[in-house]
Amino acid sequence: MQAKNNDISIAYHDQGKGFPIVFLHAFPLNQTMWAQQEAALSSNFRVITIDLRGHGESDAPLWRYTLDQAAGDVCALLDHLSIPQALFVGLSMGGYILFTFYRKYADRVRGMVLADTRAQADTPEGKEGRFQMAQIAYKQGPSAIADIMIPKSLSPATIRTRPELVHQVRTMIEGNQMSGIAGDLMAMAERPDSVPLLKQIACPTQIIVGELDQATPPADAKLMAEQIPNARLAIIPNAAHLANLEQPELFSAIVGDFASNVARSGKP
Ligand code: MLT
Repeated sequence: MQAKNNDISIAYHDQGKGFPIVFLHAFPLNQTMWAQQEAALSSNFRVITIDLRGHGESDAPLWRYTLDQAAGDVCALLDHLSIPQALFVGLSMGGYILFTFYRKYADRVRGMVLADTRAQADTPEGKEGRFQMAQIAYKQGPSAIADIMIPKSLSPATIRTRPELVHQVRTMIEGNQMSGIAGDLMAMAERPDSVPLLKQIACPTQIIVGELDQATPPADAKLMAEQIPNARLAIIPNAAHLANLEQPELFSAIVGDFASNVARSGKP
């Protein structure tokens, strides 16, 4: 399915009925990273997955990407689907977008799942690394980005023993255009520090992290859990950064349980 927003076409899936859960994917993947969550949860919930601008089957303009704009695209899609409020699940970059979304549209957020993400902004070295990666994308294309991202995203055991999952991640990365990859890097480098926001988050919040996540390690998850009022924290064993792909059943069960509790606590 496609929705138009300011001349940009955004691809999405909308499956199931009932309390809505909106999934925001990681860098530099696409909505198919949520296929197993969609399959597990859409019999009980309305599951919406989105190809963020610059990814998958959405348009990938050359100029210019910000997290504010990504949050605006998500809000426009909710309007298009007549969804006043939802539970949001953001993994890594999806979590950065979720912080921005909450800043701008808190009244649309019934609850949040912040998975394998962090509240801190990039350090100066981190920003420099984004610039270097954008240069690599520009000169060598998305497959060079897949070579860099796969060891950062999956655990060594997964890389050794689950070639089909490695292939799935590589295919998602290689399916993106250079403009979208460079655009994400630019947007993430410019994102503000969300640590001061944490204490002001008033909606139910579930934090999830893979115990082996090195990109956004459990210490970052613990910081969010300590500062967001009443947040819950789940640490998923035998999973690294893409915990929803490495341990899909457990990840889906945590989201499903949390969504049921949030749904019971009032009408969306
Ligand atoms: C992601 O998985 O979205 C990225 O690792 C986030 C980042 O590079 O900060």
